[in-house]
Amino acid sequence: MKYALVGCGRVAPSHINAAAKNGFEIIAVCDIDNGHIDDMFSRAVPVDNENIRRYSDFCEMYDKEKPELVSIALPSGLHAEAAIEAIKRGINVIIEKPMAMSIKDADEIIRLSKEYNVKVSACHQNRFNIAVQEMRAALENGRFGKLSNAAVTVRWSRGEDYYSQADWRGKFESDGGTLMNQCIHGIDLLRWMCGDCLKRVYGATRRQHHPYIEAEDVGTAVFEFENGVIATVEGTVNVAGFDMEEHLTLLGETGTVKLGGTSANTIEIWKFLDNPEDSKDGFHEKTLNVYGNGHTSLFEDMALAIRENRAPYVDAEAGKRALEAVLAIYKSAYTGAPVELPLTDAAGIDFKDMFER
Ligand SMILES: NC(=O)c1ccc[n+]([C@@H]2O[C@H](COP(=O)([O-])OP(=O)(O)OC[C@H]3O[C@@H](n4cnc5c(N)ncnc54)[C@H](O)[C@@H]3O)[C@@H](O)[C@H]2O)c1
Repeated sequence: MKYALVGCGRVAPSHINAAAKNGFEIIAVCDIDNGHIDDMFSRAVPVDNENIRRYSDFCEMYDKEKPELVSIALPSGLHAEAAIEAIKRGINVIIEKPMAMSIKDADEIIRLSKEYNVKVSACHQNRFNIAVQEMRAALENGRFGKLSNAAVTVRWSRGEDYYSQADWRGKFESDGGTLMNQCIHGIDLLRWMCGDCLKRVYGATRRQHHPYIEAEDVGTAVFEFENGVIATVEGTVNVAGFDMEEHLTLLGETGTVKLGGTSANTIEIWKFLDNPEDSKDGFHEKTLNVYGNGHTSLFEDMALAIRENRAPYVDAEAGKRALEAVLAIYKSAYTGAPVELPLTDAAGIDFKDMFER
């Protein structure tokens, strides 16, 4: 699999590691800052980077290298353009979350991926966490019975040092706030587990402790699903000084599971009436950071999806659903009213003056 990476910043070592562990041929990388490329290689598993060609323009890299697969780890506001340029050249794409910053761009990526017959995967790698896979298997096997309610909380810590690393951070057009950046993985999991059929969203957001960013540092929401399930969301970067948890709870008539750890990588509670002896309480998957281990599995799945000509496990529609849920929270917070889905037209930039009105 001839593979290339676009964007060599903080998360990029997870991409290079995933490509290397899956045996991809890493042919090229692209970043406007050559120092970031050096830094990325120093933080990734050792690869023979003498023979990996470097570019500062992703279109030039696509044209000259003709990779079969690229992964995009650019600032979020650049995802759509870099993905669309790849798709139009027949290149398969893994796009970091959020897959785009507007519904229009997400729809265009989906439309073009069909027209050009390429695979697109949205990088919601936490779906591959062992604890999450266990929850999903129990759900698919009917062990929860009729679902009642669910909750996700992402309680992490990000300070001025984090936001000042790059100009795109914390702005509605290029990043969004904690719901769009840190919490979107949890929102993806919540929506997926509850049946995807999100009907109505009530949202409230605030910028409490980070006056130097444009977007929210805490957001809460209530989700109502078509199937009757209700759920709550809380995302914050206002924990004082440490990443506390990413927890996901799912309650059904015959089962209760609570996942925790810093990124839904631990099983805190596992109770099913069909087998009270079945216990997974305390299971913990070790991770090096809050990004978890899922990139490797997501890259592996993408390679198989290309080879088997099937949809990736986390496809572009899934990426759009997570984006749509966050934009619906923003819209509800902005208007002070519940928002009905589907959202046909919304973008991060629509909420630019959320806290300045
Ligand atoms: N899946 C996850 O768990 C996870 C974790 C962290 C970040 N992310 C996402 O990954 C993306 C990147 O985040 P990050 O923290 O690595 O950001 P970053 O700012 O550290 O890295 C972005 C890189 O892109 C480069 N760049 C900017 N404009 C470019 C251009 N036009 N052409 C080529 N290179 C360009 C920058 O020089 C930088 O090295 C974001 O969308 C973020 O939301 C996902």
